[in-house]
Amino acid sequence: MSYDRVRAVDEPVADALADERQRQRDTLAMIASENHVSEAVLAAQGSELTNKYAEGYPGERYYGGCAYADEVEELAIERAKDLWGAEHVNVQPHSGSSANMAVYLAVLEPGDKILSLDLTHGGHLSHGHDVNFAGKLYDVTHYEVDAETGRLDYESIARKAEKTNPDIIVSGFSAYPRQVDWKAIQEAADNVGAYHMADIAHITGLVAAGEHPSPVGIADFVTGSTHKTIRAGRGGIIMCGEEYADAIDTAVFPGLQGGPLMHNVAGKAVGFGEALDPAFNEYAAQVVKNADVLGEALQENGFSLVSGGTDTHLVLVDLRKSHPDVTGSDAEEALEEVGIVLNGNTVPGETRTPFNPSGIRAGTPALTTRGFEAAEMQQVGDLITRVVDNLGDTEVYADVAAEVQELCDAHPLYE
Ligand SMILES: Cc1ncc(COP(=O)(O)O)c(C=O)c1O
Repeated sequence: MSYDRVRAVDEPVADALADERQRQRDTLAMIASENHVSEAVLAAQGSELTNKYAEGYPGERYYGGCAYADEVEELAIERAKDLWGAEHVNVQPHSGSSANMAVYLAVLEPGDKILSLDLTHGGHLSHGHDVNFAGKLYDVTHYEVDAETGRLDYESIARKAEKTNPDIIVSGFSAYPRQVDWKAIQEAADNVGAYHMADIAHITGLVAAGEHPSPVGIADFVTGSTHKTIRAGRGGIIMCGEEYADAIDTAVFPGLQGGPLMHNVAGKAVGFGEALDPAFNEYAAQVVKNADVLGEALQENGFSLVSGGTDTHLVLVDLRKSHPDVTGSDAEEALEEVGIVLNGNTVPGETRTPFNPSGIRAGTPALTTRGFEAAEMQQVGDLITRVVDNLGDTEVYADVAAEVQELCDAHPLYE
């Protein structure tokens, strides 16, 4: 895809777009929530559907001219149903956060109680952090992972639910490297008559491919982003049983949003179609394998992983044990200098701050899209180690940057 048409009218934006494409080609994207969509998804998201108003739902729009918008949205919905096996799907949320907001709007009143994982333990802002709308509108209590094991303690969640009597329990996480027992959380919710929302933003692709157990059919609501482990472009999705279909659809539109971003719905349709190809299952299996290899490599090199490893697409490194003087932000900055892009992250029992946390989070979805397998992941683990072990050493940085460039050149992107 060329930016010549942008350049003809707007050189600075064309330059920035071209620079961003080059940045993605020449760096290793290891932010666990990122991925690289196909050119087909990019084209669908850049289509003329960006011009179309389609308030409402297929067959029941508030505007004329929606025949093709209907076709695209119906395809996205049907494909999502095939991928995740949900009875009802809404593909209109603008993002994962909007999807969560719609669920709250559908079943909660302001002041109602949310029980969710603490942000510093791997939860998400939209699960009720006090800087987020959810924290401002609702009465939020948090559960935590076990300080020793770094894992969810389902009995403690159930106890906390009994004590706080929430209206909804939120599961699904931003920085949790282990499989989630959805049934255990559902039981905790049933026990106190609460709803259960499973936010699978990070693991939508793993769940679709059977690489992580599915909460669909267990939790009342399943929400997600569509641009992380599922490569369907930026957006959100909500899945639920038929009994909640009207409440969810009404909450998304007209409750929260106006016109759906139909170009992004088209991206979702194309990306979901791609994920129905059996090759996607192989991809998702490789994502998990690659995270495991990366985690092993880092541990062999002396790093400490929260929970001692991973079952998913990400590893969470607690730097306090191996590198007590290095913060997650130090590591993130140094790694970006050599072309490895990941993020500093809080860790359970955080002793610093979210702006200057004690850990780093690294994911494998994007590298796996580029074709990285075990050998490359071992190499990436070693490169990360060399940088963090030698912070500020420009000779080491230059050597590592050269290896990163070789890896990128060997696994080209958007040619
Ligand atoms: C668990 C979880 N939920 C929701 C979101 C928000 O997704 P979005 O950025 O699509 O709003 C994220 C983002 O990473 C997330 O990790």
